[in-house]
Amino acid sequence: MLTSDTSGVTLYHKIRERHASPIYPYSILGRTVHIVFAEPYIRTLLDNSPFTYGVGRLKHKFFQSFMPLNVGVSEGDAWVRRRKMNEHVLNTAVDRNVPYTYSTHLPTNFHQFYELGQMMMGRIVFGVNSAVPPDVMNVFKEANNIGIFFSSHSPVSKCTYRRYRQYISSAYHHPSSNSLVSYIQNDTTLNEDEVLDQIPHWMFPIIGLFTGTIPRVLLLLFTHRMFTTDERKLRRCILETLRLNNPVNSTFRTALHDVSLDKVYSKGTQFLIINNPILRDPVIFPHPNEFIPDRWLDTDLENSYYALMFNQGPQICPGKDLVMQLATNYIQYYLNQLRGYNVEVYPVIDTKNIPQMINICEIKFSIQPYR
Ligand code: HEM
Repeated sequence: MLTSDTSGVTLYHKIRERHASPIYPYSILGRTVHIVFAEPYIRTLLDNSPFTYGVGRLKHKFFQSFMPLNVGVSEGDAWVRRRKMNEHVLNTAVDRNVPYTYSTHLPTNFHQFYELGQMMMGRIVFGVNSAVPPDVMNVFKEANNIGIFFSSHSPVSKCTYRRYRQYISSAYHHPSSNSLVSYIQNDTTLNEDEVLDQIPHWMFPIIGLFTGTIPRVLLLLFTHRMFTTDERKLRRCILETLRLNNPVNSTFRTALHDVSLDKVYSKGTQFLIINNPILRDPVIFPHPNEFIPDRWLDTDLENSYYALMFNQGPQICPGKDLVMQLATNYIQYYLNQLRGYNVEVYPVIDTKNIPQMINICEIKFSIQPYR
């Protein structure tokens, strides 16, 4: 599942065909995880996170290597305090709605969108006008190593960690105006280590937004000849792109004490929600493989426990509104720049059958003036 079937769809359907149980035990990397299929149990897990259901072992291990005090791996009172700080910072950013200026040279391939992502992350999180130094970014590269799950040693070298930590600490103490770090309140109840451990969980998702989600939205808009810059319509297009190609394809949880679902599970049991197949459930999302943004006119759908792009419940992504705002602003800019131009796109996509995961490295736009 972690290799070829990256969105977990094949695994999900393979088990579904053979077993009708709402929760099914399965071995992943030599450990048993209980895959949760039925919506009522998904709702129970998400609504009771992170109090009854804490972070899954794999995510815990990954975060442990460079941000052990992050909200995403916290429980109980610590989670409440860290969550409040994250919400304050991210909601302040939405309220300020900083008008960023973008280069008139539009990115047209993966490499250029990645550069844009680095640049935008530097601006949004740290208020700098250039990309964050590469040796700071090495912490993500080194931590993102499958070996982490088999070894007790941190994959992040001391030298990399020191450079990265110096950078974010200096940004926190000398914040540039209108940056996320400048919105951290002085009277926060968090100590400095806790504050610094929240910052990386703003860095990598912003890069991912500009490198992955925004090019996919643009690809689907061009493919469907939808050149709308209307904010509400674009919002629906972004939600629909995330439904079809959600980057967060799995949600792991650990039972923090004995729990009763379809039966009793003991403390420590690992649960797994595979988000992407649920986002294509044909009963909830008719014509599930088609790009139909107007399905999101139904606002109840967005709040349902089938709409798992940002998850639901207490741990719903606190960056959701910021994601919508940043993506809408940038896509409006991109489309406005293209007036008078013709755009051809690669890969060519079957509009009735959008792939489970459009490879962002393959996306290319060719922009030519109309003759
Ligand atoms: C398309 C972009 C994004 C998607 C699809 C997404 C999705 C998610 C999901 C599904 C979760 C819940 C994980 C869980 O329940 O275990 C989550 C958590 C989180 N996200 Fe996002 N996210 C995105 C972008 C962002 C951005 C841009 C930020 C910040 C700048 C952000 C900050 C966070 C944080 C801090 C958490 C942890 C919340 C907690 O555990 O209480 N995300 N995100």
